[in-house]
Amino acid sequence: MKFKRNIIITGGAGFIGSHVVRLFVNKYPDYRIVNVDKLTYAGNLANLKDIETAPNYFFEKADICDYERISALMSYYRIDGIIHLAAESHVDRSIRNPVAFAYTNVIGTLTMLQAAKQYWESCAEGYAGKLFYHISTDEVYGALKMDGTMFTEQTRYDPHSPYSASKASSDHFVRAFHDTYGMPTMLTNCSNNYGPYQFPEKLIPLFINNIRHRKPLPVYGKGENVRDWLYVEDHARAIDLIFHRGKIADSYNIGGFNEWKNIDLIKVLIKTVDRLLGNPDGYSLDLITYVTDRNGHDLRYAIDSSKLKNELGWEPSLQFEEGIEKTVRWYLDNQEWMDNITSGEYERYYEEMYKNR
Ligand code: NAD
Ligand code: TYD
Repeated sequence: MKFKRNIIITGGAGFIGSHVVRLFVNKYPDYRIVNVDKLTYAGNLANLKDIETAPNYFFEKADICDYERISALMSYYRIDGIIHLAAESHVDRSIRNPVAFAYTNVIGTLTMLQAAKQYWESCAEGYAGKLFYHISTDEVYGALKMDGTMFTEQTRYDPHSPYSASKASSDHFVRAFHDTYGMPTMLTNCSNNYGPYQFPEKLIPLFINNIRHRKPLPVYGKGENVRDWLYVEDHARAIDLIFHRGKIADSYNIGGFNEWKNIDLIKVLIKTVDRLLGNPDGYSLDLITYVTDRNGHDLRYAIDSSKLKNELGWEPSLQFEEGIEKTVRWYLDNQEWMDNITSGEYERYYEEMYKNR
């Protein structure tokens, strides 16, 4: 079958990537979707069970730092679009092992860019009809004060954690490939995502699982840090829209205008999980445990996504209460998915990290 487009999605077995793969495979049966993922601890093919036999879906276990392999995949599948999500994504891990973040996020992105450049420049039509779309984070902008200001696309980069520093560096390489070689690139910076299939080292799935098992809820510092939360399927919808209609060489902020202080969000989670488990209201509040703060913990993130709304008409589709209800229900209904991840090696890693706090 001749496909209309041939797209690599990197990191498609991860949290956000699996939602993007699912959306593209289902919505565009005439696109060939090639999921390129190394299957690190965060990659899980169980996230894609429902689409794994679709005729337009292909999986390639590969490392984005492996130039030869990525080059071979580019020409074998005649790739014309890349949506690049593969990354090391957890701030706490980056504090423990910053070098791994430089390899995957910086060298990995550079390797993807270099392989795309080499293949696309060898095509008769060159860069025409090609796109390298890089998925980044609002954390590259640094931290805001509690003063109502927001990150816009003009905000100066000011990363603080090894994670955000590595993402900022990869963003710069993406822009450099446009400016230096004329590669058609695009970039988006999104706020914190939540929803099904998120690895339970991140706040929301970790806390839902801990509440269910009556385990402590480790709140960093005083729980006063603020994050701007977006339902993951809304992020995937934005990626679809921008991939098809975004401006080359441009960048867009994606966010839900939905700021929550951690401790308030945690109380909403407790209330929702307790209600759905049939516990009395307030039953799990005693699990809240204040622990040593994260080093360099960014105080507040808030994204102004009005450019995306004004130019492309995107808006979040879900109210937060609705999104949290759906998310909690999903984790409670998919305990086996959670158990498969939290048993064994990860459990030992988490216990050790928690002990050191
Ligand atoms: P995740 O950790 O859940 O998934 C990352 C995926 O990348 C995994 O499937 C993993 O196996 C794969 N991967 C890691 N290293 C690889 C390598 N060397 N080669 C190939 N595959 C590799 O991450 P996520 O939360 O889904 O984030 C996806 C992207 O979105 C990242 O680039 C992240 O920076 C960005 N982002 C995330 C959020 C968020 O709230 N989670 C917000 C904004 C932006
Ligand atoms: P996280 O989900 O790790 O995302 P990010 O660091 O990228 O924002 O954390 C969200 C917020 O929750 C952040 O302010 C750190 C805090 N947090 C805790 O208080 N306890 C935890 O166990 C975790 C994982 C996070």
